[in-house]
Amino acid sequence: MNPDTLRAQLLAWYDASARDLPWRVGPADHAAGVRPDPYRVWLSEVMLQQTTVPHATPYFLKFTARWPTVADLAGEADGEVMAAWAGLGYYARARNLLKCARAVASEHGGVFPDTEEGLRGLPGLGPYTAAAVGAIAFDRPANVVDGNVERVMARLFAVETPLPDAKPELKRLAAGLVRDHRPGDWAQALMDLGATICRPKAPLCDRCPVASHCAALATGAPETYPRKTAKAALPHRHGVAYVLTRGDQIALVRRPPKGLLGGMLALPTSDWRAAPWSDAEAAEAAPAPAAWRGVGEVEHGFTHFTLTLRLLRAEGDAADVIWSPRRDLDALPSVFLKAARAGLTNLL
Ligand code: ADE
Repeated sequence: MNPDTLRAQLLAWYDASARDLPWRVGPADHAAGVRPDPYRVWLSEVMLQQTTVPHATPYFLKFTARWPTVADLAGEADGEVMAAWAGLGYYARARNLLKCARAVASEHGGVFPDTEEGLRGLPGLGPYTAAAVGAIAFDRPANVVDGNVERVMARLFAVETPLPDAKPELKRLAAGLVRDHRPGDWAQALMDLGATICRPKAPLCDRCPVASHCAALATGAPETYPRKTAKAALPHRHGVAYVLTRGDQIALVRRPPKGLLGGMLALPTSDWRAAPWSDAEAAEAAPAPAAWRGVGEVEHGFTHFTLTLRLLRAEGDAADVIWSPRRDLDALPSVFLKAARAGLTNLL
């Protein structure tokens, strides 16, 4: 494979087919000298590390409408930002986002450093984000490797080492294609190829601009790359969530700042443990004595475990809870939104 031919083909494809995304300066504008706003690039990259473009886009639009600059975001109260982040998951990222915004505002005059190294010096900003912002916002020749790019490399080079062991090798292969020429467009071209053509399950190889270079396609089974080691089954936990209402209001609590879903609003729950909860134990762990009745359960998948939450419902009162309008559950993380909706509607 000639890497420079491959690069030219992929960049030409990007010029013709780049996705129109709200944080992106498209290739024609970029060539005409328009530069992306580093704040928007940074925010989009943090959001996109945990979710897809369609899921992240409304959050990105909401954040940038409400906080148009990094200084606006830095000046906001933690709880407001955590509430706006609800539904995106990985809440530690929202806390790191604020930490980083505040450092940019207070120590850098509201201006992001313009090199990968300078970006790495910001708190809460990891190596992937530094590479992505360096390349996309500042056209630094950084090697931007996310899951999409790993998949593209594994296929182009038919890498037989399974993930996650293959990561350093895939990163080296990606580095071999980075040049000083159009590094921001290059990073985004690889991401677009991975998202739209070189898809995980059903790659569209007949539309791929670099198919002639692809060693995985030559094997006849490109979708079998990247190779993966069999995943260990995730542990399963059980908990009880309490849907306590007082007229039009529902009882919420704020979770402790550290740990899973730290600092987020939540339904009151029992501990989450390996063994299921009996009726008596579930009533014992309730936030207040009340006529609790079972109204079903919900399942939720976290990164490191899966959870069954039994739902108990009652009308009543309790101390030390935050009474919130039933209709206003937007600030709840997905697991509690799911549980609250089911608990309020199930009439088992
Ligand atoms: N995934 C991660 N970063 C992205 C970006 N800047 N554009 C599109 N998809 C992405």
